[in-house]
Amino acid sequence: MRDAPETDELLPPDRTLMGPGPSNVHPRVLRSMATPLVGYLDDYYVEVMNDLQELMRYVFQTDNEYTFAVSGTGTAGMETAFSNLLEPGETVLVPSNGYFGERMGAVAERAGADVVSVDAPWGEPLDPADVERAVETEDPSVVGVVHGETSTGVKQPHIDTIADIVHDNDGYLVVDTVASLVGNEFHTDEWGVDVVYTGSQKCLSAPPGVAPITFSDRAAEKVKRREEPVRSWYLDLTGVWEYWGDERNYHHTGPASTNYALREAMRMVAGEGIENVWDRHRRVAGAIKAGVEAMGAPLHVAEDYWLPTLNPVEVPDGVDDGAVIERMMDDHGIEIVGGLGALEGDIFRVGCMGNSARPENAMQFVSAFGSVLAAEGADVDPEAGVAATSRVLGE
Ligand SMILES: Cc1ncc(COP(=O)(O)O)c(C=O)c1O
Repeated sequence: MRDAPETDELLPPDRTLMGPGPSNVHPRVLRSMATPLVGYLDDYYVEVMNDLQELMRYVFQTDNEYTFAVSGTGTAGMETAFSNLLEPGETVLVPSNGYFGERMGAVAERAGADVVSVDAPWGEPLDPADVERAVETEDPSVVGVVHGETSTGVKQPHIDTIADIVHDNDGYLVVDTVASLVGNEFHTDEWGVDVVYTGSQKCLSAPPGVAPITFSDRAAEKVKRREEPVRSWYLDLTGVWEYWGDERNYHHTGPASTNYALREAMRMVAGEGIENVWDRHRRVAGAIKAGVEAMGAPLHVAEDYWLPTLNPVEVPDGVDDGAVIERMMDDHGIEIVGGLGALEGDIFRVGCMGNSARPENAMQFVSAFGSVLAAEGADVDPEAGVAATSRVLGE
């Protein structure tokens, strides 16, 4: 017999989550998770699923029928997109300008696809002209693009132009919006995107564990025409759709509490109005941006493709980024993180997502960050930073 381990009741510390996600969850959303469970095909749960689908169509700005929440985190959404759309031997074009674009390639390779890339340096978006050239030479059936690249803080502009390029070649465009949807303007139907997925724990501010996804009819038709079954049983759209579609048959047990939370989080977005939510992210992140720039720690991204939900702040000369991140957490309870891959050691990644994208968080962050940088020996002006943030918030 093994002895029962001794553990304490959960009492997590109170953090201000301003990293690349998760973001802070609103009490209303937390409360929804403490409501009673029902069975996965209970009439009540089916109604919850219906509400979820309508709310997801709203946040994606789509009329797509095939809209549902994958039971898994954002990566499960990514895997659902590529493993359904791609058959072995097909070519997929993915971006090389960030960590999550590269992950798309790794996921597509497991689906048996030939992976080719369209290149841009980390810290810059793809140029549609490069996408066009790559589509002409490689003839991919599927093209993946990351709308908000969390590793660099770059927003990919011209999604509609890229969709036209892909469609002119009879291909399908998949867009990752895990770190951008709801925090940035996005129009699935208007821009002509075939498959879009996101995560629950970033700008939606629900707990991690479910990944909203939407397939256009045209994309779903491609999946139905497959010659070989999808290699993942769990993520196969045709199976999952037996649960989320009209049939409502058992496929797997829906994660009820997480979906309750997602529903409540999206109700909050709907209540505020998605255009207002986009504006709030831009305004609060704009105050952070103004603050760090005024103190002397600018963003490592050009204004044209700044991603308000993830701000890449340059590490000032002579400063140990790890020490700053640790002090922010230990002294101020604020989570920020460092750079990844090609930008490791060069940037701090400061998130401004969902319920964390609030004016008081911007003030709290900029004031703590300035004092921590100064204490770590950076040549910065913390007071100028706070003044700039407060000015932008007051405008
Ligand atoms: C742009 C992007 N795509 C995909 C993912 C993967 O999501 P998850 O960690 O929820 O599986 C992330 C997570 O940070 C992300 O930022």
